[in-house]
Amino acid sequence: MSFCKPKIAIIGGGNIGGVLAQLAASRELGDIAVLDIVEDLAKGKCLDIAEAAAAEGFDVKLTGDHKPETILKDADIVIVTAGIARKPGMSRDDLLSINSKIIKEVAENIKKYAPKSYIIVISNPLDAMVTLMKSVTGFPANRVMGQAGVLDSSRFASFIAWELEVSVKDINALVLGGHGDTMVPLIKYANVAGIPVMEMLERKYKSKEKAVQVMDDIVKRTADAGGEVVRLLKTGSAFYSPAASAIAMVESILKDQKRILPTCAFLDGEYGVKGLYVGVPAILGANGVEKVVELTLSDEEQKMFDHSINAVKELIDVLKELKFL
Ligand code: LAC
Repeated sequence: MSFCKPKIAIIGGGNIGGVLAQLAASRELGDIAVLDIVEDLAKGKCLDIAEAAAAEGFDVKLTGDHKPETILKDADIVIVTAGIARKPGMSRDDLLSINSKIIKEVAENIKKYAPKSYIIVISNPLDAMVTLMKSVTGFPANRVMGQAGVLDSSRFASFIAWELEVSVKDINALVLGGHGDTMVPLIKYANVAGIPVMEMLERKYKSKEKAVQVMDDIVKRTADAGGEVVRLLKTGSAFYSPAASAIAMVESILKDQKRILPTCAFLDGEYGVKGLYVGVPAILGANGVEKVVELTLSDEEQKMFDHSINAVKELIDVLKELKFL
């Protein structure tokens, strides 16, 4: 009998790719292979991380290369970060045409060299790039998903924790919808150790109106959180938090944890939506997206969700006009 470590392929050796490799290595999630078209970049990053193994105490193999076949061959899970990140003043949607070309090529390579893999896309505009990945690979929907909701929810949870001055570990917060300005942070379900966040806010401010206003600001900051980091960094977009979020998804799949994580998943009638990728809670396990979890939305949340669905549909229409789909 032989036991194999899973192989995790990371497409793109930029900022997110580097943090992904580092996190996957330090958690010993599997052997790691990083692809970047810039010759030697991925090799250099992998060598650097590998040389930390003794100091940090992890034991996995790291390989960097610019050749897709080397990196993708026998990969169990592929995390796609390839493409351009936005700069200040740009929306994620502004990246559509340039990143579509890149993702199409990446998808063709995955189909060819890693036909059995699970794919997690991080590249923006996220919902459109996952759709394109699914269309080009032809993989079943449970094996093609996108990372956005874990990040958006993590940001939402952080802002709640800072406001209430409690540990972020006790916050449960969920963001649905597309990964853009129309995302839908769910207020009713947000809780601290089981206590509704709105109740905590009302107690803190002894005023319902003030609590609503504070939550409104948190919701707005959540939707703009990626942009806030872009404005501060000036040269690119967030990379630590997106990578950490994707790693949570990878871990749930590789260890069959069956965590419920907000995932950009293919909807086949759930939430009344058919044939569209959008952010919803899903059970992630050894079979990838094992189940989309449905929940009841308030009228206001449903309105915001519908608005978000329409924004995703518009992007998909542009993909069609550009003949990518
Ligand atoms: C963000 C990018 C990575 O939200 O989508 O920061």
